[in-house]
Amino acid sequence: MSVSGVTSTGSKRPDLLFGPGATDVPHQMVRAHGCIVHDADGREYLDFIMGLGAVALGYGNSAVNLAAHAAVDRGTVGPLPPEDEGELAEELRVIIPRLEQVRFLKTGAEAMAAAVRIARAATKRDQVLGCGYHGWLDWCNSGPGIPQSTQSLFGTIPFNDPEGTRQAIRAAGDRLACVVVEPVIDAAPAAEWLAVLRTETQQVGALLVIDEIKTAFRIALGGATELWRLEPDLIVLGKAIANGYPLAVVGGSADVMQHVQHTWISSTLATEFVSLAAARATVAEIKGTNALTHLAAVGARLFTGLTRLAEQDATGSVHCSGIPPMCYLRYDDEARSARVAAECARRGLLFKRTAYNFVSLAHDASSIDSALKTLGEVLASC
Ligand SMILES: Cc1ncc(COP(=O)(O)O)c(C=O)c1O
Repeated sequence: MSVSGVTSTGSKRPDLLFGPGATDVPHQMVRAHGCIVHDADGREYLDFIMGLGAVALGYGNSAVNLAAHAAVDRGTVGPLPPEDEGELAEELRVIIPRLEQVRFLKTGAEAMAAAVRIARAATKRDQVLGCGYHGWLDWCNSGPGIPQSTQSLFGTIPFNDPEGTRQAIRAAGDRLACVVVEPVIDAAPAAEWLAVLRTETQQVGALLVIDEIKTAFRIALGGATELWRLEPDLIVLGKAIANGYPLAVVGGSADVMQHVQHTWISSTLATEFVSLAAARATVAEIKGTNALTHLAAVGARLFTGLTRLAEQDATGSVHCSGIPPMCYLRYDDEARSARVAAECARRGLLFKRTAYNFVSLAHDASSIDSALKTLGEVLASC
């Protein structure tokens, strides 16, 4: 195996999905459609991982693929900005009015790094507080290869803890460039926490950045910002925005976004045709099919079923976690979580043992019920 660490996407590593040394589990896939995945050995799986949340309309959605194929036929990439760039920006502004201006990039990590760069440029400060996962780049991580000076500029705040958050923001005070949060971490955000984030950042002159990479185009078209009427300074979108084609967005008010002009945020393939066209088709398809109402309904069916399975589990060490459109069974016993995930896979179900499983337009009541039946049988036997 010449790919270092088996695969380039950490969360797709077999040991993370199924536990170290699991046998007879799928390692590589050859194709996917709807919510069905085919592995390299010709076996078929009902999937709830959905490209780690990058797919809300189902794999290979035909309207999105049609737009992408047409973009390939138009040449994929060229020397000038593509028309689709401005048009998608306008469409996003209609969905999330706070996105007066945007920049497009390819990955969530890149768009988050851009948001932090913009916040630092706007405030002329360096310190950042974060909450959740924001990608692999240096500014928000620690460990080998990351300079100590970079690590020292980043701290964390506790999710849904108004007092801890207030204290951390006040302690950073006039050194704080921005607070960056994932709005959903295993649970919906409390109104009081959201209020503290907004008022305390304003008080110290820092920007508030909402990382909507998992939540936009899933829990609502405009994500948590729409659902909980948030008023962030910057918003970052990714994953489901182009139904699996690589695209991410950073945006906010014209006032904040003008700072992009004074720093350098640019990438050769940020403006290829295919992902921009795929995103426009994704927006149209989500609106046209009322997909997010469907996700809420099938998500609720899954969430209710998982809650019941957790309550019925004889060990009492399994819990239903998350919110209906993105949820999972959280296990106190890590080894058991691996046994369950591996056995589900052997029975044709790909169901993540950590945050999150995602429903899609391709899931229906019978796929949810089938997954719950398999999970119930496996939990009883593992
Ligand atoms: C909330 C959040 N932010 C940022 C990222 C990083 O995005 P990417 O993996 O596209 O770089 C992720 C990826 O899982 C994410 O869930």
